[in-house]
Amino acid sequence: MGIGRLLRAARRQPVDATPVWFMRQAGRSLPEYRALREKHPMLEIARTPELAAAVSLQPVRRLGVDAAIVFADITLPLPGMGVAFELTEGVGPVIGHPVRTAADVAALRVLDPHADLPYVAETIRTLKAEVPAGVDVIGFAAAPFTLASYMVEGRGSRDFAHVKAMMLGAPDLWHAMMGTISASTVAYLRMQVEAGADAIQLFDSWVGALAPRDYAEFVQPHTRAVFAALRGTVSLIHFGTGSATLLPLMRGDGADVVSVDWRIGLGDAWSLLGPDLAIQGNLDPAALLGPWEAVRVRADEILADAAGRPGHIFNLGHGVLPSTSPDQLARLVDHVHAWRPPAW
Ligand code: CP3
Repeated sequence: MGIGRLLRAARRQPVDATPVWFMRQAGRSLPEYRALREKHPMLEIARTPELAAAVSLQPVRRLGVDAAIVFADITLPLPGMGVAFELTEGVGPVIGHPVRTAADVAALRVLDPHADLPYVAETIRTLKAEVPAGVDVIGFAAAPFTLASYMVEGRGSRDFAHVKAMMLGAPDLWHAMMGTISASTVAYLRMQVEAGADAIQLFDSWVGALAPRDYAEFVQPHTRAVFAALRGTVSLIHFGTGSATLLPLMRGDGADVVSVDWRIGLGDAWSLLGPDLAIQGNLDPAALLGPWEAVRVRADEILADAAGRPGHIFNLGHGVLPSTSPDQLARLVDHVHAWRPPAW
């Protein structure tokens, strides 16, 4: 069976059209997802393979995207590591007892994904059997820093005060915690690869909060360990936001594709990453709340910036906003697919 456009682009091979998918494409912006949510809580959907696979396929059917991402959440591995959490409406994941002390870190366990999250593997197997030909299946996990942020802060944060205090004040504790997270993440992603994921994305959503030197000292060794362990399996995507100043470091982290947000031009990002990496991005998700003309202008600028060089996966710089119109997303997919660089 031939490989999809997304995988070809991830390998920087020529494609017949630029592949496109959207972070958070399954879920809140789609009416069919909202209808299912009336009957089932989010976590119940994620833990029920038939439902999770059906939700992952919704944007494939409605929008015509080139990839399906497994319906799950970055916080799902937490209970298996000994950290209980709840999803609070309007807030997101909330951890009742955040990881702050030496005793908290010592109590962490390395995840046993086959025992703790077998349903994620089952969802991927179901998806692989059901996706249309040419649509690639993306598995994912949080990057170690982003998962650590939730563990230590207890919820989303603006200043990351507790995380940074641990990093600087108790570096041994920090590295021990990051070691357990990385080992868990490797095991979790290996399970997803074995289940049939065509590509893996590591979400480092909050990495832009870090100074480059602190990224290099406290985070990079752990992110690198995750990518190194998965090297040679499937295509590896490294997603960050606010990460423009980290790109020279991220370049060496071991991913095949680096995902950038709208705060940097694609051409500039590529100069920092070098020609050997593929790039994903980078429309501002808020642009989709404007009129189509505003979307089209920005999409064309991004495509022109990529200039048809091999290795561009069109995406947003961060997740689809809940109020986004699915019609606008579908139109953008068609527009990206129809685009050809001057030389094609
Ligand atoms: O947006 C990102 O930065 C991507 C990484 C990320 C995910 N979950 C991946 C995800 C992050 C940072 C989270 C944490 C999280 N989990 C939040 C954000 C809270 C904060 O601190 O800002 C929230 C609200 C959740 C809970 C959650 N996750 C819900 C309610 C849903 C379903 C519907 C939706 O889209 O809101 C999810 C699904 C989810 N989280 C997916 C992924 C990759 C699967 C859907 C998809 O990607 O299409």
